[in-house]
Amino acid sequence: MADKAKLRVFRGNEEGGEFKEYEVETYTGMVVLDAIHEIQAKQAPDLGVRWNCKAGRCGSCSAEINGRPKLMCMTRMSHYPEGEPITVTPMRTFPIIKDLVTDVSFNFEMAKKIPPLAPREKEADGTWRMQQYDIDRIQEFRKCIECFLCQNVCHVLRDHDKKKSFAGPRFFIHLATLEMHPLDTIDRRPMMKEQFGLGLCNITKCCTEVCPEHIGITDNGIIPLKERVADDYYDPVRWLLSKFGGEKKKKRLPVVQEAKGAKPDAKKAEAKKGEASKVEAKKETGAGKAKTG
Ligand code: SF4
Ligand code: F3S
Repeated sequence: MADKAKLRVFRGNEEGGEFKEYEVETYTGMVVLDAIHEIQAKQAPDLGVRWNCKAGRCGSCSAEINGRPKLMCMTRMSHYPEGEPITVTPMRTFPIIKDLVTDVSFNFEMAKKIPPLAPREKEADGTWRMQQYDIDRIQEFRKCIECFLCQNVCHVLRDHDKKKSFAGPRFFIHLATLEMHPLDTIDRRPMMKEQFGLGLCNITKCCTEVCPEHIGITDNGIIPLKERVADDYYDPVRWLLSKFGGEKKKKRLPVVQEAKGAKPDAKKAEAKKGEASKVEAKKETGAGKAKTG
């Protein structure tokens, strides 16, 4: 590959910004995050970028490279044509804090709303027994590194901004992990339908395409969940079985809906205020799992 490469990097914040061009020296094995660090070290010390492990495990350095959602630390510079500039922008679905750093707190708020695993009582000998087959099925979902690239690319969040009523693909596989867990005792189907907007997913599979862990988000997680909800709500045989006690029941928790009555604008302003104060708090405390610089 060429000895030098050009990068067009977004510089700015939620109010606006511009692309700035930088040139870096390249070397064999260099990844886009290396190039960003090179720029930060030698040309733009105030360039904001979130990263942590630089090994594709922490999910912090998600960005859009030449318009494709990717982990910067896992994307080789040699992947791109020589002599053409490489464009690096922050994830588009989340508010920009600074340069390549976005505010992904929506995802953490969503995670809090999902009831955790509630395992059944242990057996008489004090152990739980499960079929290996049942555990194998959910193992794939546990590879998620919470990079939120799937959330970034899903059009329900990206284009329609349904953050209030749609959990997004990352949380559908989390729900699938719980729902398919052989020990779990909670029936999350009403929540998935009413609260987490599973029906809004129209199986475009963009989430699956960008997942760096190659999780079968749509085929193995979302579609089986949709089938479970459809069985529960629309299958007359299941309905009859449930009425006459022929189906093993899990515990149903109440569905929590967004407060009704508040004007959309007022709700938006409230949310924005909350986000702004979170950003302020983060700035002050330096809290969060990832390093920003
Ligand atoms: Fe990232 Fe894949 Fe997890 Fe989505 S499911 S957050 S794309 S690792
Ligand atoms: Fe979105 Fe994935 Fe469904 S991209 S629409 S959650 S298949």
